[in-house]
Amino acid sequence: MDPVLLNLIVQIWFLIIIAIFTFYLGFVLISFKNFIPYVPTPPKIAREMLRLADLKPGDKICDLGSGSGGIILEAVKKYPVIAAGIEKSKSLYWISKIRAAATFKKGQAIFKNDDLFKTDLRECDAVFCFLVSKALDKLAPNFNEMRIGTKIVTYMFPVKNSNFKENIFEVGKRDRIFIYQKLK
Ligand SMILES: C[S@@+](CC[C@H](N)C(=O)[O-])C[C@H]1O[C@@H](n2cnc3c(N)ncnc32)[C@H](O)[C@@H]1O
Repeated sequence: MDPVLLNLIVQIWFLIIIAIFTFYLGFVLISFKNFIPYVPTPPKIAREMLRLADLKPGDKICDLGSGSGGIILEAVKKYPVIAAGIEKSKSLYWISKIRAAATFKKGQAIFKNDDLFKTDLRECDAVFCFLVSKALDKLAPNFNEMRIGTKIVTYMFPVKNSNFKENIFEVGKRDRIFIYQKLK
């Protein structure tokens, strides 16, 4: 190939990558103005959360504030479960749908562009959250409606609710995953 043309193609690709990165960074920074910002769970943590949830075939799981769909897509890639992601941001919802279309799935992934605080959790077997403490507190009525035995799996922030038994798992030096099981 003509070296001038090759150089031009490399430069165009470089500019596209910089533009995507700048857009993504701007998007993340703007989301910090929200009550619950968009910060994706690191893939290693997502895999560990799913492992600790001890999912069974056919389980119904939900990620409250599913962002770009990382946890849900990791779940359906590995486990034959029905996984629903609830996300308020339209752009993140569409990113999740596009990612889902390009993912080989053992399970079923459903994305809803909705408010997580209005989610009915009574049908869920496990609920995943990476949300700030205030949001977890606000979810108490939804958590209290869940069936006995249902799990909540949260990253970083604990749930304060005496209706649940708590187990804490250290991942690496500074990450913690909290697993709750509904007792009453
Ligand atoms: C910390 S991120 C977690 C993303 C994803 N669960 C993950 O672990 O990769 C929290 C997400 O909650 C979404 N969110 C904030 N408020 C919401 C609401 N009321 N209803 C639904 N989603 C909401 C944000 O847009 C953001 O994507």
